[in-house]
Amino acid sequence: MSASQSDVLVKLKVNGKDYERRISPRMHLADFLRSEVHLTGTHVGCEHGVCGACTVLVNGKSVRSCLTFAVQVQDADIRTVESLGVVDNLHPLQQAFWEKHGLQCGFCTPGMLMTAVEFLAANPDPSREEVAEAISGNLCRCTGYQTIIDAIISAAQTLRQGRAEA
Ligand code: FES
Ligand code: FES
Repeated sequence: MSASQSDVLVKLKVNGKDYERRISPRMHLADFLRSEVHLTGTHVGCEHGVCGACTVLVNGKSVRSCLTFAVQVQDADIRTVESLGVVDNLHPLQQAFWEKHGLQCGFCTPGMLMTAVEFLAANPDPSREEVAEAISGNLCRCTGYQTIIDAIISAAQTLRQGRAEA
């Protein structure tokens, strides 16, 4: 996008790295992440706060990045799905989604994972009902949700074991 006089300087930390960009004040955080920082793991589905595919963590709290202007989160610490793990070293949630078939097309998955990261940090030993409630704001058109719940319960177990052994 070409620069305009109304552009503003935005400084954000994304997955531990500092970024400074001059952008339109109307640019959403999702667009900032995808087009300015080139982190395309954050998906954009409905663009009006309904589907949850664009969920990222801002200072540890989940937000809809399609409803958040990048300027609103100036100086914040943003965490996206790219912070979780890599192919050879998956985060326990990613591993569990893979093992329990918690995804099919994968479009909802980044938002599901980031929602689950926040949820398990606050509730490390949840019931299935609590998991269902936690992901109720994230839409999935493929799985029927049961395998996603299986995956989050399984990851919670792995994370608890890891903490117990540490
Ligand atoms: Fe943000 Fe759907 S793209 S909630
Ligand atoms: Fe396709 Fe959830 S896996 S939308």
